[in-house]
Amino acid sequence: MAAETVLVVGGTGMLGRQVAEQLQARGKQVRALVRPTSNTEALTELRAELVTADLLKAETLRVALDGVDAVVTTAAGYTRHTAGDTIETDHSGNRNLADAAVAAGVRRLVFTSILNCHLARDVPHFWAKKLAEDYFEELGLPFVSLRPGAFVDYFGLSGGVDGFTAGRITAIGDVDVRFTRVYTPDLAANLAAAVDADVAPGERVDIGWDLAPTTRELTELASQILGRDLELTAVDLAQMRAPDMPEEAYRDFAAMFEFFLSGRYVADTTRQRQVFGAVPGAEETMRRRLAALGHVAAP
Ligand SMILES: NC(=O)c1ccc[n+]([C@@H]2O[C@H](COP(=O)([O-])OP(=O)(O)OC[C@H]3O[C@@H](n4cnc5c(N)ncnc54)[C@H](OP(=O)(O)O)[C@@H]3O)[C@@H](O)[C@H]2O)c1
Repeated sequence: MAAETVLVVGGTGMLGRQVAEQLQARGKQVRALVRPTSNTEALTELRAELVTADLLKAETLRVALDGVDAVVTTAAGYTRHTAGDTIETDHSGNRNLADAAVAAGVRRLVFTSILNCHLARDVPHFWAKKLAEDYFEELGLPFVSLRPGAFVDYFGLSGGVDGFTAGRITAIGDVDVRFTRVYTPDLAANLAAAVDADVAPGERVDIGWDLAPTTRELTELASQILGRDLELTAVDLAQMRAPDMPEEAYRDFAAMFEFFLSGRYVADTTRQRQVFGAVPGAEETMRRRLAALGHVAAP
């Protein structure tokens, strides 16, 4: 029997590329939706089928979805992966994708959402995820939404400097608030597994670790693993603003940090454990992360 085709939307992104890889490892035929402007270099090795379309151009999506069993989307506009992208992709782009998926009779769409987005009306890109989920439900689209915490992949890296090498970690805001992290290789595996996982249509599943460490605890953990001290410095968001960050995007990120620091960005991993098995531990994950950065041997 031929392998089922899964369409990956966002496959040229940091997370999406890993999802495509994980799907192939699971024996799926991967079709990647790319824009005419996308840099597809990262997908070359995968030898995935490429189809050109754009979430913001509804008429391009029919061909992309033709013959597809399932869709996994990690795509986002607010991340500004390509210059000029905006949050409009997270609104009308996701709605266009859902409409096309229903029209094509897709068996399941796996959506990359954000932890507790339904509690974050003041954070535009969180709320966009919540509205997209609501739209999918209204439409009767068979979907499952994974709601991950913050990517630990960015922890310790700022302004192009590897803080683990420099011995200095810079973090935004209060370093003693707990919030959930995820490591993207683990999240990518969950997103790929979600294509066939035993879940009810419309489920929203929090994704995190066995505990939500504070930034101070995470720094201490990294320090223990490395066997040397790391200096932790808390800074204001304004100090970390990239010079080219538009005002609207800056306000969105400021609201996000306010939400993180409110203590409400903590996952309930009960369902994650049932659906995907053991939940990653903070210590072993941090060890894998530091190994991937070349600081310690792989566990
Ligand atoms: N960062 C976090 O801590 C965090 C936490 C929770 C959830 N998330 C979610 O995780 C995902 C992040 O994935 P990532 O890191 O892979 O993002 P990314 O590196 O910024 O990539 C974004 C992807 O979306 C694609 N895209 C953007 N607009 C598009 C359009 N109009 N049509 C088709 N494709 C379009 C981009 O394609 P091009 O190559 O053409 O630009 C790219 O492949 C997002 O959904 C985000 O909300 C992130």
